[in-house]
Amino acid sequence: MSTGVVSHASPYIIQQDYPAYTEEQHSVWAELVGHMLPELERHAAREYLDGFEIIGLQNDRLPNLASISARLAPRTGWNSTPVSGFLPAPAFFEMLATRRFPTTTWLRSRDSLEYTPEPDIFHDVFGHVPMHAHAVFADFLEHYGRVCASVADARVLEKLGRLFWYTVEFGVIRQRGEIKVYGSGLISSHGECRNVMDGHCAIREFALDEVVNTPVKVDELHKELFAVSSFDQIYEAMHEAERRASCNCL
Ligand SMILES: [Fe+2]
Repeated sequence: MSTGVVSHASPYIIQQDYPAYTEEQHSVWAELVGHMLPELERHAAREYLDGFEIIGLQNDRLPNLASISARLAPRTGWNSTPVSGFLPAPAFFEMLATRRFPTTTWLRSRDSLEYTPEPDIFHDVFGHVPMHAHAVFADFLEHYGRVCASVADARVLEKLGRLFWYTVEFGVIRQRGEIKVYGSGLISSHGECRNVMDGHCAIREFALDEVVNTPVKVDELHKELFAVSSFDQIYEAMHEAERRASCNCL
């Protein structure tokens, strides 16, 4: 793991001005958490709920990224790094490869609680960061960044993007015979989570070939997602994807 200067990403890295958050913003955060948490206590993967405790998320205050990173560091070495917004792919991959998760610091307003066109701190921290406390998931995510950072072929990158989408963003896992959510897009959206839990989305067994050949649709609720039986499966799938990308057979 490199700890040197991050060349592609450094222009996007900012400081989180924590004292600048208003009481109204803390109250919007509390409303978002209060809306999702009862659902997640029933339907989220155990590892997500464990991570929520480990990183010390608070229900009624916006997260301080430095505090979260301090709790993650001894666990997995991941860092929730504040960024100014959307990152170009090379910067994004470079950050993942060095265990820095690009984290937005803005929060949606009260009149758009359910949907934001771009990720905000609720999606990024509440949705993503608890899983970074899980060792296997943490290794998978770093490896994903390292592999993508080394790929130039747009077709291969699109396929790897689908692997990210159907795991990190919209992943589900089978635990004790039940489907549980762990992808941030499901964790941070009541509508997406209910779509799965109400049975409106077919759940297929995770298989690398199926996943990388299933196009992503961003403008509608999912009609099919892929369930793993353990997080080892995505770790192994990433190694298989790396082998295939290197021989141009992904
Ligand atoms: Fe995301």
